[in-house]
Formats: sequence, structure tokens, C-alpha cells
Amino acid sequence: MTQHFAFSYRLIAAPQDLSGPDQALLAAANAALSRAYAPYSKFQVGASLLLKSGLIVEGNNQENIAYPSGLCAERVALFYAGATYPEDAILKICIVAEGDLMPEGALLSPCGSCRQVLLESEARQNNPIEVLLVQRSGEILVLDTVQNLLPFGFSK
Ligand code: THU
Repeated sequence: MTQHFAFSYRLIAAPQDLSGPDQALLAAANAALSRAYAPYSKFQVGASLLLKSGLIVEGNNQENIAYPSGLCAERVALFYAGATYPEDAILKICIVAEGDLMPEGALLSPCGSCRQVLLESEARQNNPIEVLLVQRSGEILVLDTVQNLLPFGFSK
């Protein structure tokens, strides 16, 4: 029997259509992006997390001449939050990117390893994490839970 997996997401036309708090979260992701260390790929990524306490945690990609030693923006932010505020639930993550690595119109969306880490962050706190994916067009995809980014993910 064929089964289907489907999920809904919201499409927001432009940053100014976000709520005030979401605009602040996006501003934090953009600020993080501007501090990315990406001399090799020249692809800058910024991620911001909204914690339940209201705190915003920022991360950006950190590259290294030994390429695999670098880390994506999302995991920098998630691991920093886990290391610093382990009891503060993550409500949202906002991701922005800039650079020529991806063609115009390509979907900006986290890599598989970051999805895996996001999935465990969500499972660990037993509360969904909303995902805001900011496209180069300015459109924003909003997903209600990381589960939709990694169906059939490896988890406990
Ligand atoms: N990168 C991220 O920071 N997040 C992603 O989801 C995908 C890729 C970074 C890793 C590397 O520094 C650069 O983008 C090019 O892959």
C-alpha cells in the first residue's frame, strides 16, 4: 500500500509582513550573518534562536582551512544554546544566507546534519521548534516543526 507524507507550511511574502518579534529575530540572524567566518565558500549563513525566556541566541558558519572542521551556522547556534541555556526551550530558529554558492531561486534550507541536530533539540525539550527559512527573494517559509524537515529521522 502506498503511503504519503505531506506537510503544510506558510509562505510570507516579505520581511515587513512578519510580526514585530519575528522581525527582531530576523534582524539577529542578519547580524550574525554579517559576522560569519566563511573565507573558503564565501557563503555566509546566519541563524538566530528565540528562547522561551525571550533571549535570542545567534550563530553563523565558522569555516576552517581543514574544510570538514568547520561548522554550519545552525549548529553553532544550537550548540551554544545547549551549552549555555540548557533549560531554556528553543521556540524558533530563523536562517538567512548570502553568497553565490546557490543559484538564484534555489531553496535555502538547512543541511542534513543540521536537521538531525534540530530534530534532537526539539525531541529533548518536547516542544516544537518553528523554522523560518528566509529566501533570497525575501520570501519566508515558516514550518511549524522540525519533524517536517526530517521525516523518518533517526531518533530515540
Ligand atoms: N552552511 C551553513 O552554515 N548552514 C547550512 O545549512 C548549509 C551550509 C555553511 C557551511 C559552509 O560554511 C558554507 O555554508 C558552505 O557550505
